[in-house]
Parts: sequence; structure tokens; C-alpha cells
Amino acid sequence: MIIAIASGKGGVGKTTISVNVAVLLSFLGRTVVVDGDVALPNVHVHLNLSPPASLPEVLKGEASLKEAIYELPFKVGKKETTLHILPSSGPLEKIDLDGFPEVVKELDKDYDFVIVDVAAGLSKYALLPIMASEKIYVVVNPEKASIEDGKRVISVASSIGKEVSGVIVNRYKGEKALAELAQKEISENLAGIVRESKLVKKAWEIGKPFVVAFPSSAVSKDVAKLAKNMAGMKTEIKKYGKLKYFLRLA
Ligand SMILES: Nc1ncnc2c1ncn2[C@@H]1O[C@H](COP(=O)(O)OP(=O)(O)O)[C@@H](O)[C@H]1O
Ligand SMILES: [Mg+2]
Repeated sequence: MIIAIASGKGGVGKTTISVNVAVLLSFLGRTVVVDGDVALPNVHVHLNLSPPASLPEVLKGEASLKEAIYELPFKVGKKETTLHILPSSGPLEKIDLDGFPEVVKELDKDYDFVIVDVAAGLSKYALLPIMASEKIYVVVNPEKASIEDGKRVISVASSIGKEVSGVIVNRYKGEKALAELAQKEISENLAGIVRESKLVKKAWEIGKPFVVAFPSSAVSKDVAKLAKNMAGMKTEIKKYGKLKYFLRLA
């Protein structure tokens, strides 16, 4: 399953969501994160990797997929897992993305979940990975401008025949009306709400996904619900406590 994590605006948390959700999905099946943001890649930055080979080299035919994929062993609580990463580091230069669909198709044969961290906006750098994916999730922050930008992504996606599978509200601080607006305007499927947490930055500072660094935190539980929903497990949205919503496993 090729899953795109997209957004209108940059900096809404696509990379954060992609990597953290991927760590949890890796307990359900083989999972790889592809840094599809070749112009402004940051998966390797967040994870403190200095990859000798990466996606641009694969696209240019200078490296094989095997050479460019990194296996990161992680422990979530007591459970061990391995997350595979196809980063996009490298010098800023013109990168031809034409081979991208082939690359993810190849990965799809070998992995249960191919999570593509897509560039923000609607340039060809964003649209090609979106076109190559089977499921598209749009990340928004609970702000009107961010939701507005997210709406543009769905209309452009649908103009190229792609439907958005769900919306993810990230950095939630209790803005219930805005979460509902995102659901109404972007996707009926509110795939998840991930709260604002200082632990996110704290974990990146040590080069780790927060679900690894702080597995029992509330924000990690938000991602667990999101991961289960993305994996197609039955979930139910319920109003609950301070966060107003939680996605409860049925
Ligand atoms: N739920 C959250 N709570 C607090 N900070 C967050 C959260 N999600 C993301 N951030 C912070 O926002 C910044 C941008 O996140 P990032 O995942 O790099 O966004 P994008 O990939 O969309 O550009 C990072 O500094 C990250 O630590
Ligand atoms: Mg990013």
C-alpha cells in the first residue's frame, strides 16, 4: 500500500507524522518511509542520518534501492522493530522525478506500507508523488489558512483523479470547531488528531521519533490511533475529556 502524506502549507508536521506513524505501522507489516520531498528533504535531518546514497541517486541510476535504504532498529517500550528509510539528502540540484512512480511501485512489492512524505504545496514535486500513491492523507494544523490550503490539495488531487482518504489534524490544542471544519471541508474521514506537544521537538533533538522516545505519552497514543485507522482497523470517533475527541478502537 503506497500512502502519501501531503499538505498545502509547509511546516504543518508531515515529516513528523510520516515517521512516527511509520514506526507504529512497522509492527503491523514491513514499512518504509520515502522522503518524497526531494527539494527540501528533512527526514534524514530529523533522524540525524548522513546517508551516502539516497533517492536522487536512485532516480539518476547511480545507486540501487538497496544501497539507498537504511534500516533503523527502534524499540517502542519493550518491543523491537525495524523501520526502513529511503532518504532524499544530497546537494540541491535539479532532480528529475519522472522515475519516482517506478521506484515506489518497486518498493510496494517488498513492503506492506510505503509511506511517502510529500513536498508541501502543488508543484510537480508534490503532484507526482501524490499521483503515484494509492491513499492520500492531508495534514493540516487547526488554523483557517492551513485548512484552506489543504482544501486546494483535495481539489487538485481530484482533478487528477485522486481522492483524499483522510485528514489529519496536527498540533491540536482544543480547537474543536476547526477540527470539525477540516473534516467537513477536506475529508469526512478524520483519520486522526495529534495534539501539540513539547515532546515532539525534544525527541527530534535527540534524533528520534517521539513514539520511540516517549512511547507512553498522550501524543504517542494519538499517533497509535492514527496508525490503526490508516491500517484499516475499525475506529470510532468519540468525544472525550480535554482533547474533546479520541479515536477509540471499536
Ligand atoms: N504535534 C506537534 N507538537 C509540537 N510540535 C510539532 C508537532 N508536529 C510537528 N511539530 C514541529 O513542527 C515543526 C515542523 O514539523 P515537520 O514535521 O518538519 O513539518 P513538515 O514536514 O510539514 O514541513 C518541527 O519543528 C516539529 O518539531
Ligand atoms: Mg517535511
